[in-house]
Amino acid sequence: ESIAEAVAHADPKAGQALAARTCAMCHSFAKDGPAMIGPDLYGVAGSAVGDMPGYDFSPALAAHKAEHWTDDTLSAWLEAPARFAPGTRMAFPGVPEAGDRAAIIAFLHTLSDGGK
Ligand code: HEC
Repeated sequence: ESIAEAVAHADPKAGQALAARTCAMCHSFAKDGPAMIGPDLYGVAGSAVGDMPGYDFSPALAAHKAEHWTDDTLSAWLEAPARFAPGTRMAFPGVPEAGDRAAIIAFLHTLSDGGK
């Protein structure tokens, strides 16, 4: 099963609950939410890497600016942030289970005005 297929079959509500436990101490998920330790994540799915307004990204993540947050890049990032972008300031070990990553990514897809 590809990551995109796993995301399509995943439960965004389960992803929301996971994100509340594992991401929310550093990230807001609200539209026009504040930057916290990390950037606000509303609308991040499909956006350019390191492009959320009002946040000063590390050079490590800014080096990926030519890429976009697809299901594949989000999964690689969330599995092991320090492997995706060595030197990143996201001090988070990663989400080891592919199913958990798919659910979190499915939740991120719901955080957009276009419902992408
Ligand atoms: C300990 C705090 C912390 C935790 C926990 C954390 N993050 Fe982050 N996150 C950050 C920081 C800091 C950055 C900016 C990294 C940089 O500039 O190198 C970031 C960046 C990101 C980005 C890139 C945003 C962009 O616009 O390019 C995404 C996506 C992201 N985090 C998702 C998540 C998700 C999903 C979780 C939970 C599974 C999570 N993060 C957990 C601190 C955290």
